[in-house]
Amino acid sequence: MISGGTTERDAVTAPKWDRYYDEEGYIFGTAPNAFLAAEAHRFAPAGRILVPGDGEGRNGVWLAGQGFAVTSVEASAVGVEKARALAAARGVRLDIQNANLDAWQWPIAAFDAVAAIFVHFEPRVRQAMHRRMLAALKPGGVILLEAFTPKHIENRKAGSRGGPPPEMLYTGAMLREDFTGADIVVLREEEVALDEGTRHQGLAHVVRMAARRAA
Ligand SMILES: C[S@@+](CC[C@H](N)C(=O)[O-])C[C@H]1O[C@@H](n2cnc3c(N)ncnc32)[C@H](O)[C@@H]1O
Repeated sequence: MISGGTTERDAVTAPKWDRYYDEEGYIFGTAPNAFLAAEAHRFAPAGRILVPGDGEGRNGVWLAGQGFAVTSVEASAVGVEKARALAAARGVRLDIQNANLDAWQWPIAAFDAVAAIFVHFEPRVRQAMHRRMLAALKPGGVILLEAFTPKHIENRKAGSRGGPPPEMLYTGAMLREDFTGADIVVLREEEVALDEGTRHQGLAHVVRMAARRAA
């Protein structure tokens, strides 16, 4: 903690993303992530979904429009404001919280699903955050996760846009360990063509996971 109930991470994550989001338009677009849209059939109809690190809200708002009860948690106040504007424009309701996941009171066994799309944590907190996501699921609940892998560094050198600093990239092996105990139904590292707003563009090397909390 540094002051007034904020964590060290607040001092970095929120201002950094506030700056990125503080421009006209939605930097990752307003359409949902392709992996999420393709795999959302795994979610229980009308279930409760947690969307950690929802940014400007494209995924949370889309899920709410599909009839899910969505809780979106995002560190950037600017992102949250844009997510609320997107929800209003789409005429959907969801619970959008401006909070840091490091300090958030994670509910236990409360959600039918978690959608963690390109939420990269520092190595010192990554595993704890992933285990909280798993614990937040009801037995049988599903998590979908997509993240950039170390191989993406080459794509970036070639001009692709997107991805965190190298120490925050993920591999399938890391996820297998972080989500020990879950039934991993999909886990693949692959190259995909990203076309998400101005910030996720070009060939990207990603890891995609669908896992189920043991019933
Ligand atoms: C690459 S952006 C992706 C945003 C969104 N998931 C999407 O796909 O459009 C990563 C987001 O995760 C958020 N984030 C990262 N660490 C966080 C934390 N500890 N608490 C809350 N939000 C966090 C950032 O603020 C940022 O908005």
